[in-house]
Amino acid sequence: MNLLLAGSFGPEERLAWTRALQQVLPTHRLVADEPALQALGREHIDVALVANPAPGSLQGLPRLRLIQSLWAGVDRLLADPTLPAGVPVARMVDPAMNAAMAETALWAVLSLHRGFFDYQGQQRQALWQQRPQRRADEVAVTVLGFGQMGRAVAQRLAAQGYRVAAWRREPAPADTGAAPPAVPAGVDLQAGLAALPALLARTEVLVNLLPLTASTRGLLDARCFAALPRGAAVVNLARGAHLVEADLLAALASGQLRHAVLDVFQTEPLPAEHAFWQHGHITVLPHAAALTDERSAAAVVADNLARLVCGEPLRHLVQAQRGY
Ligand code: NAP
Ligand code: GLV
Repeated sequence: MNLLLAGSFGPEERLAWTRALQQVLPTHRLVADEPALQALGREHIDVALVANPAPGSLQGLPRLRLIQSLWAGVDRLLADPTLPAGVPVARMVDPAMNAAMAETALWAVLSLHRGFFDYQGQQRQALWQQRPQRRADEVAVTVLGFGQMGRAVAQRLAAQGYRVAAWRREPAPADTGAAPPAVPAGVDLQAGLAALPALLARTEVLVNLLPLTASTRGLLDARCFAALPRGAAVVNLARGAHLVEADLLAALASGQLRHAVLDVFQTEPLPAEHAFWQHGHITVLPHAAALTDERSAAAVVADNLARLVCGEPLRHLVQAQRGY
């Protein structure tokens, strides 16, 4: 098969992907740049391997049978009005990414719980002052989203001793007849919008790992912050458009929220003049909570391509009507 690699890669990243994919897919032809695509002809491409490609880049591929995302989140891909209709889209699901996300979430929650971000602020003022030391089981953390990332995060936080709740759309997966995986020990799993207010009311640290859809866009807003206990903290590791940025600044200014850890933003890269950079109660990461590891992700791609070749069911297909 002819595979098109498309996305917003830097030169080194493109090379790393090319090497990793060629290693696990030696019998397929990888078309990794525009000159190679022009030489082959767009009409010969069978599969597109994409990492946040520019809108329109998958047009004019009449033989396309699969769009395999190299990113976990497919919101930008699905928002492309020129996305070829009827071609299945699979997203990246890689345990290595889930583990990386769990590490980031643990760092954020631990730092909030033990006041390490506050100590960083104190260091800048040469201020020697100890803060109360609470136990992990006294800290209530809610994880919004209980999918690939949310489940791994909830499990990791519960294993660390936190009082963990998680929130999903449906009580059980709507898309499979298979028995749902067991809920990790120590995780209180809730489902549906009706459960949210009571959950938020007992949440000290809110970790967002929802996909960006019409129902979740702007969910982290003034109403959500007001439903949290005063002095709660927010960790957004999912998508920038989940958060209403002005509402966050207002909630921090009023003391309703005490700190936010943000990895994702409405505009990325975060503009140099943005208020978040210098804010004493916001910790900024450059969309680095869980990068795709091309070594393990290439194996995930190879597995799905083998399934395509054999006519077996593809894994991790996106359901367009639910948006994730
Ligand atoms: P996923 O496996 O598709 O899981 C989505 C979860 O969200 C599911 O539990 C789903 O509920 C729940 N959900 C969806 N819509 C909902 C709604 N309206 N109300 C309540 N729950 C809802 O997604 P994932 O792979 O874990 O990815 C999670 C997020 O992380 C995405 O936004 C992705 O873009 C982001 N991400 C960020 C980074 C980074 O580096 N910052 C890296 C990778 C991914 P059901 O279980 O009922 O379906
Ligand atoms: C990163 O944000 C991803 O969706 O893989």
